[in-house]
Formats: sequence, C-alpha cells, structure tokens
Amino acid sequence: MKKVLVLSIIVLVCFLCMLAYTQKEGEEVAKVDPKAELQKSVERGKALFNDAKLGTSGMTCNSCHAKGGTVDSKMGEMSMKAFDALNAKYPKYFGMAKRVMTLDQVINWCIKTPLKGEPLSWDDQKLTDLTAYVASVKPEKATKEKKEE
Ligand code: HEC
Repeated sequence: MKKVLVLSIIVLVCFLCMLAYTQKEGEEVAKVDPKAELQKSVERGKALFNDAKLGTSGMTCNSCHAKGGTVDSKMGEMSMKAFDALNAKYPKYFGMAKRVMTLDQVINWCIKTPLKGEPLSWDDQKLTDLTAYVASVKPEKATKEKKEE
C-alpha cells in the first residue's frame, strides 16, 4: 500500500513538472515571433538607410543607392546597381576595396568611405539592421514583374 502511495506521488510530481515546463515553453513561443523580429530589424535598417547621422558627409545611403537601393543609380562617376538578393552573393570580391568582403563589411566600407563615418562594430545592432534591410531589397523591376505574374 505504501509503495503505491509513493509511486503515485512520484507520478504526480512528474506530471506537474511536465505541465509547468510545457506552459513555460508555450509562453516563450508566444512571446517571440522570429518573422516579426526580422521584419522589425529590416524596418530599423530602412530608417538607418536614410539617416545622415551614420556619417559626417551629410549624405545618407540613399544619396547614392537611390530609392532604398531598389533601382540602378548614378552619382557623379559612380554607378550603383540595384541591390538584388545580396545575401546570396556575399562574401565576394568587392572592387572598390580590392578584397573579398562580407555584406556587412561592404556596408561598413560605405559608412567609412563615402559617408565619412565611424565603422560600426561587428555586433552593433545597427549593422545587423542595415544588413537585414539591404539583404531584403529586391530591384523594383523584379518586384513589379512578380506582382504581374
Ligand atoms: C557616395 C556614394 C555611396 C554612398 C553614400 C553609399 N554607397 Fe554603398 N556603394 C557605393 C558604390 C560606388 C558601390 C560599389 C558599386 C556597386 O557595387 O554597385 C557601393 C556598394 C554597396 C553595396 C554592395 C552592392 C552590390 O551590388 O554588391 C552595398 C550593400 C552598399 N553599397 C550599401 C550601402 C549602405 C548601407 C550605405 C549607407 C551606410 C551606402 N552603401 C552608402 C556608393 C555609395
């Protein structure tokens, strides 16, 4: 009889633990929506793309990469192609810096060189947000074609 009592207490404790654990897990899943988090990062990056405070030259990323980088653009002698699925293209040789770079290193190169600003540290959320935004950009034409499909 004693054995049965001890056994049922153990089973009950296990059950309560499991219940508490699954509830906690459920709460965490409900709190964080990975897609929404990425979208928030892209939105912050889009705002930074138009923020002259990244540098000291008075320019923003958008001064050269027009319409948020969605179209080909020209700035004096420089010609910039619309961003197109860049996360899949980097790391690659970046001609302006004469070396292979990751996407965030190219962004920092643009902050340091044309914008005359301080490069962002590798774990700075601003660099993540700019990278998330840049990686999300599709050329305007491609977006239109997709809509027409
Ligand atoms: C004075 C003009 C200028 C400004 C301002 C500028 N860039 Fe650039 N950027 C360039 C040029 C020139 C290139 C190289 C040409 C190219 O790859 O289209 C380039 C390349 C890039 C690339 C790689 C494009 C590709 O297709 O591989 C990214 C990403 C980029 N810039 C992001 C940024 C971001 C983010 C900012 C703002 C922090 C910025 N740029 C500000 C001129 C500029």
